[in-house]
Amino acid sequence: MPAYDKKSPLALLWEMSYGGRAVYLIAVISMLISMLCSFLLPQVIRFVVDSVIGGMPADDVPVVPTLLSWLGVNGDAAKARRELALAGAFVIGVAAFNGVCGYIYHKALAMSSEGIIERLRDRLYSHIQSLPYEWHIGIQTGDIIQRCTSDVEVVRNFVFNQLIEIARAIALVVFAYSLLFPMNFTMSFASLAFLSVIFLYSFVFLSKTAERFLVVDEAEGQLLAIAQENFTGVRVVRAFGRERHEVDRFGTQNELYADLWVKLGNLLSAYWGLGDFITGLQMITICAIGAYQAAWGGITVGEFMVFLTYNSMIVWPVRGLGRVLSEASKTGVSLGRLMEILDAEPERDPDDAIETPIDGDIEFDRVSFSYGNAKVLDGVSFTARRGTTLGILGATGSGKTTVAHLICRLYDLKDGEGEIRIGGVDVKRYRRTWLRKNVGIVLQEPFLYSRTIGENVAALSSSHTLEDIREASAISQVDDAVMQFAGGYETTVGERGVTLSGGQKQRVAIARTILKSPPIMIFDDSLSAVDTETDAKIRAALSRRVKDTTTIIIAHRITSISGADSVIVMDNGRIAEMGTPDELMARGGIYRRIRNMQQSVEDELGEAD
Ligand SMILES: Nc1ncnc2c1ncn2[C@@H]1O[C@H](COP(=O)(O)OP(=O)(O)OP(=O)(O)O)[C@@H](O)[C@H]1O
Ligand SMILES: [Mg+2]
Repeated sequence: MPAYDKKSPLALLWEMSYGGRAVYLIAVISMLISMLCSFLLPQVIRFVVDSVIGGMPADDVPVVPTLLSWLGVNGDAAKARRELALAGAFVIGVAAFNGVCGYIYHKALAMSSEGIIERLRDRLYSHIQSLPYEWHIGIQTGDIIQRCTSDVEVVRNFVFNQLIEIARAIALVVFAYSLLFPMNFTMSFASLAFLSVIFLYSFVFLSKTAERFLVVDEAEGQLLAIAQENFTGVRVVRAFGRERHEVDRFGTQNELYADLWVKLGNLLSAYWGLGDFITGLQMITICAIGAYQAAWGGITVGEFMVFLTYNSMIVWPVRGLGRVLSEASKTGVSLGRLMEILDAEPERDPDDAIETPIDGDIEFDRVSFSYGNAKVLDGVSFTARRGTTLGILGATGSGKTTVAHLICRLYDLKDGEGEIRIGGVDVKRYRRTWLRKNVGIVLQEPFLYSRTIGENVAALSSSHTLEDIREASAISQVDDAVMQFAGGYETTVGERGVTLSGGQKQRVAIARTILKSPPIMIFDDSLSAVDTETDAKIRAALSRRVKDTTTIIIAHRITSISGADSVIVMDNGRIAEMGTPDELMARGGIYRRIRNMQQSVEDELGEAD
């Protein structure tokens, strides 16, 4: 992954446009040509009205004299028919050319804009992949997804629509007025004065309503959040008969959301109404001046018509420009939100990071760790010998998962807060991906992809056969259950694995790590959802399979670790007891107390059966 340098939002857009700039330029040029074509057509009307019908010499009409002289025609009224034919042919020619330019414009714009957005999405995704685990758990998934979809969409809209609209409106105004002013100064001045008012009015009004749009967006976000929470929490909703409550909650928010839209709609109606009124005033003023001027011979009828046509051609883009500019400010906000992701520091390995075989004892040497201010581990030292099994027992919140996360460097130790070594090498010296490849961890909350069970088991391994998958699944005691599904290993796991039971999900996740068979395996509370008997079977099968593997089993149930070579008992971030299960039993501390307690519960359950 290339190192990422912090930059400004515009610089980011510029960088993303690499490779698509020439095409974008083609889009802008064809847009301009097409715009020029649309300016030519009113000139034909003028020519027809003034020269063909009005019998005026055509010399005053731009372009036409040149064309006529090419064709050997002069402004003689007797040749009106030929001139009309010429006008017709000219209109068809211009329209066809305009069509071609329009086609090139849309195609080039789509190609270049989508390219820019595709690169932006790729950059975001790969950057997010490189960010530390800490970043991921500190941000809401919904937030990341919203940024990668809605905010990217805002940027897309800017590149695809707004940017080119701004260019078009500016070009239109410049071009139209450079034609209008020489035609008639007074009318042009009146037109421009009104247009400036219309533009300012649109811009100011729509900038002010931008805040309201933000409120509506937020209300929509809340509505979606309610729906999403409901759909993902469907089990709780059903189990507790909360459907009515959920429907009401959605209804209230939905009403609020709709109300906001209605209010915004009212405001916008006023805006459009007043805008139309000012536009109408402009038209009337120009007409009045035009009529006066035409009567006194200051302007021909054809020119008057051309003037009105050009004027109406620019009014809408300029009204639109106010909207586009006010919306473009949203792009800045969205780009800023994307930059926040891109500016987050990725995990970077030093250049001399090593990828030597990871083998040997795992040693914790006076390790202390805190997530924020609260100390979670305090001077933890222990050794898990190569090829043996270490059991970690401890109350909830005592720091067991933290130990597991530190081994595969989901978090790094601060300097002076101890050291974690594998085979005598500080874990910080390994390349992270290499370390994580060699330390297989079955997470406390296993995650399954919405793919087939077979694909889930094979997710971490590159080469494997169905036999390998089944063998690993047999060790984790899930093969029989999978084979009972109609689709076997081809059965698709529902979103978040809803078609599997909690224990089945855990066992599929265990099979996934077993199939990969890394030299170090950590099972973080991975047997909590299976019964004691299955738990024992899994451990027995596992110990036959993984002779040289260093295994760490984190558990609450004492039987899960009673077969371990050594056990540490954690209490509030410290190691309270350490030794073989027999030694700990003999010592009569926490281990023995838990053991006796769980034993008596099992005995009672056994008697109850
Ligand atoms: N990402 C985090 N940010 C802040 N605090 C955390 C984070 N993860 C864990 N903690 C806190 O650290 C302490 C130890 O958590 P840890 O997950 O290691 O406990 P555990 O022994 O695995 O518990 P359990 O048996 O319930 O899984 C807890 O008090 C927890 O609230
Ligand atoms: Mg835990």
